[in-house]
Amino acid sequence: MLRTQVAIVGAGPAGLLLGQLLHKEGVDTLLLERRSADYVAARIRAGVLEPGTVDVLERAGVATRLHAEGLTHDGVEIGFRGLRHRVDLKALTGKAVTVYGQTEVTRDLMEARTRSGASSVYEAEDVALHDFAGPTPRITYRHQGEAHEVACDFIAGCDGFHGISRRSVPAAAMSVFERVYPFGWLGLLADVPPPWHELIYANSEHGFALASLRSPTRVRCYIQCSLEDRVEQWSDERFWTEFRRRIGGEISARVPSAPSIEKSIAPLRSFVAEPLRFGRLFLAGDAAHIVPPTGAKGLNLAVSDVFYLYEALRDFYGERSERALDEYSARALRRIWRAERFSWWMTRQLHRFPGDAFDERLQQTELEHLFESHAAQMAMAENYVGLPFEPFRGG
Ligand code: APR
Ligand code: PHB
Repeated sequence: MLRTQVAIVGAGPAGLLLGQLLHKEGVDTLLLERRSADYVAARIRAGVLEPGTVDVLERAGVATRLHAEGLTHDGVEIGFRGLRHRVDLKALTGKAVTVYGQTEVTRDLMEARTRSGASSVYEAEDVALHDFAGPTPRITYRHQGEAHEVACDFIAGCDGFHGISRRSVPAAAMSVFERVYPFGWLGLLADVPPPWHELIYANSEHGFALASLRSPTRVRCYIQCSLEDRVEQWSDERFWTEFRRRIGGEISARVPSAPSIEKSIAPLRSFVAEPLRFGRLFLAGDAAHIVPPTGAKGLNLAVSDVFYLYEALRDFYGERSERALDEYSARALRRIWRAERFSWWMTRQLHRFPGDAFDERLQQTELEHLFESHAAQMAMAENYVGLPFEPFRGG
């Protein structure tokens, strides 16, 4: 039987980052991933990093390319009724966000793991978690047709929303909180210089649109779409026509009809599972929670979970102290719920919801208040740049 200190399930940003932080502390990890390395490296996801996320990536030693290629954004814009209002993140909070794709973060982490010599098994099939209620957890899996078993001290469940870790916990031991939204996002990636300087989140009468970017030569754009829509129904030309209509103003005339290099539809969901610890199994990232993408919090929240879990495991191996492990779930959940609240709020204010005229007036009132009130902009800005990490107080 193989043996490792921390078995990590899932090679998304959460699993890869935890592995890298622990490697720097001399803690041995084994990473088990269902997909191939090529698939993981090519996945297109969001791209806005909080300064706290950048700090953690620096600490993990994977921020060189991020500092060279990431774009610093001091503000974001909100479009409503044909006008654009800028929220000056830098002036309000002293902080800025960094535009750098999750695909690039993943690539940097994968390369660092390869350099570190830590073990990874891609295309691991039938991963199953055993005995994590007690002191000697095990994982079984198949790889290239052969059965394997690994013994470990801890299991980190970093296998995303559809992973096995959360589903391995008895239902009675877990509470789940969920909200499903009545629309999705259709996203398009294209190699063309963006005609906007900062991200534009637009609430138009035709639905939400987001103008984002990945680099000075690559745009990422989204529009709110029906959950029944299929990507095949959206030609590039149809996407751009609709996007122009929604983004509005003088920008719309400058939106190029560039051919897509990726196009996909994602549903929007808010989800939290509690607690995050079951004996020696710890959940982190999308395995434990989902936010709708409107606040750009998904990756950033995975990073703060992982940072708390890393600190707790470091204390365990360094000082034989379990206090931070005992605190992990409550500490992480406090930040998770704040990001859930903000992501729900952004989603609620910026999309067109079917139906209720009272809700529509409230949305309009909320946005007008945001544009006029320094305090309301401050509240948005401090959440958008990321709430501070909570220091461990139990030590
Ligand atoms: N066995 C092994 N690996 C698995 C299994 C399984 N049964 N199920 C899923 N996985 C893998 C997935 O293939 C994926 O590579 O776990 C990984 C989870 O990665 P992510 O979904 O990226 O989740 P996470 O690392 O928590 O990152 C959170 O990614 O989804 C975005 O919005 C999210 O930006 C946020 C970030
Ligand atoms: C993205 O660039 O993909 C992106 C940016 C901001 C969001 C969501 C997605 O809120």
